[in-house]
Amino acid sequence: MMTHLHPKTEELINNSSDKERINLLKKPKWIGYTGAKIIHKKLEELRDYPTNLRMPNLLLVGDSNNGKTALLNKFTELNKSFIKEETQELFLPVLMVQSPPEPDEKRFYNAILESLHSPYRSSEKAELRQQRVIHLLNKLNVKLLIIDEIQHVLAGTVSKQRLFLNVLKYLSNELKISLVCSGTREAFNAIQTDPQLANRFEPKVLSKWHNDEEFLRLLASFERILPLKKPSFLIEDSVSKIILSKSEGLLGEVSKILELASIYAIETGVESISKSVLSKIDYTPPSERKKMIFR
Ligand SMILES: Nc1ncnc2c1ncn2[C@@H]1O[C@H](COP(=O)(O)OP(=O)(O)O)[C@@H](O)[C@H]1O
Ligand SMILES: [Mg+2]
Repeated sequence: MMTHLHPKTEELINNSSDKERINLLKKPKWIGYTGAKIIHKKLEELRDYPTNLRMPNLLLVGDSNNGKTALLNKFTELNKSFIKEETQELFLPVLMVQSPPEPDEKRFYNAILESLHSPYRSSEKAELRQQRVIHLLNKLNVKLLIIDEIQHVLAGTVSKQRLFLNVLKYLSNELKISLVCSGTREAFNAIQTDPQLANRFEPKVLSKWHNDEEFLRLLASFERILPLKKPSFLIEDSVSKIILSKSEGLLGEVSKILELASIYAIETGVESISKSVLSKIDYTPPSERKKMIFR
């Protein structure tokens, strides 16, 4: 019995080669940490909110590479489309789209139409596209529209910014559904420039990780799903502190460090992560990477 593992991870180890374990480590993992659970609960509340003229919206703010997209993807996955038996009506409770890389209204509607597999003609005017988006979202009974990387469309000149703030206002008023926008602090600042929108967007911050109970809980959860034969004791003070400082408090970096360390542990046969393993992996913290480019 490998008591440091989740039963499923243990079963997996017993049935996989080293190569298979390494491949598995490279795949995305999902850990339901407390912060993610709290935001999922908030999203459920919005999804089930009774329709009224002023629907509440949510703005998820956080540094990049800290789990925003993963959390929203997970929620979208948990809210797949279904057909209501009695009426044979199609329901798509949650729709998630990625903002286009630039503040371009047409491309923004394209992103929504594409995610609904609805074709558009490039000559189609923005207003027509907008009407079609509204029609489709109504028809599919969408309750929550999630717009990721919102800072992209809220970038650029003040007038471009204002245009997109108006698009958001229009969509939320016309559709009477809740909007969930996710992005960096710049998005938060842009929304603050419009008092009406600022009132309707409740900000939720996904903060960086700190040296506390929650971080240890995260490491403990990782340890249960990393397919290593021996316990690593990641929550031990000296080990957890190294991981936190190398990762600079970003979940994506924590995950990357543990992936590299686990691969190293499998390849060398040590089968657990220690301070020594952490010192040997080929990993550069994010701020160092930036410096390297400008050197
Ligand atoms: N709940 C989670 N459990 C495990 N790893 C996660 C989780 N959320 C994010 N990650 C890791 O962090 C990386 C960055 O997350 P992502 O959601 O893309 O960040 P953001 O959207 O904030 O830039 C992911 O590629 C994944 O490796
Ligand atoms: Mg993201």
